[in-house]
Amino acid sequence: MAQEEEGRLHEVLAQVGASHDIKDLTRKLHFYDGWAPDYDQDVAALQYRAPRLAVACLTQAHPGLPHTALILDVACGTGLVAVELQARGFVRLHGVDGSPGMLEQARARGLYQQLSLCTLGQEPLPSPEGTFDAVLLVGALSDGQVPCSAIPELVRVTKPGGLLCLTTRTNPSNLPYKEALEGVLDGLERAGAWRRLVSPWTAGSWLPRSCRWRPGPQPRTASSPASCTCTKSRRGPRLRER
Ligand SMILES: C[S@@+](CC[C@H](N)C(=O)[O-])C[C@H]1O[C@@H](n2cnc3c(N)ncnc32)[C@H](O)[C@@H]1O
Repeated sequence: MAQEEEGRLHEVLAQVGASHDIKDLTRKLHFYDGWAPDYDQDVAALQYRAPRLAVACLTQAHPGLPHTALILDVACGTGLVAVELQARGFVRLHGVDGSPGMLEQARARGLYQQLSLCTLGQEPLPSPEGTFDAVLLVGALSDGQVPCSAIPELVRVTKPGGLLCLTTRTNPSNLPYKEALEGVLDGLERAGAWRRLVSPWTAGSWLPRSCRWRPGPQPRTASSPASCTCTKSRRGPRLRER
């Protein structure tokens, strides 16, 4: 790898590491505001594949999902998930994010019919119950971002029989969060709110092999493998009663 390219990768990984280090949500969203203009080119340098993995997971879980399906992209960022969805023919896309800067980039893409500022964990999603055929949340389930406690809110806005597709990181620093998330997902499954379709988590690394680090000082986020799960909502009367 050319020295210049390697230096650039170091810079980008330092940026990603800095974002992982921020555990306070308000600070994190400010950080994303500042990162927004460079986010796409930075994550492209890392060959970030989580949006592609998630959309592939969704369409494999439901190959017959019609192109007219109404899909919500939660924590949509600059709209990379919408790019993947549109490439597969889905056009009725809504997005929400807690960072005005990221939303501005998403709006410039012109792929969403509706975009809203919304901070998961602090406020409800701006949609009535049972609105969406599918809900995706990619790259934002970790400490300091979307809390596990916000998952029932995703279930609320999904139609009964609709799909939820979630990704989280599997690197050691995210394992406590991932375990807590598993607990919430299992609890919802036991309560009959949904059924896991792709199980266990389908893992995929979003860093290329060329990013493996030589020994020596490294950004703390030396690798960020992502994993993805897809569940089918089956909210029935029991859950609605609660
Ligand atoms: C790593 S980016 C992922 C963006 C996009 N989904 C992707 O895969 O490229 C994380 C996004 O989650 C948003 N975010 C983090 N915590 C959030 C929260 N609690 N509510 C809403 N958005 C949040 C950030 O503003 C940021 O745009």
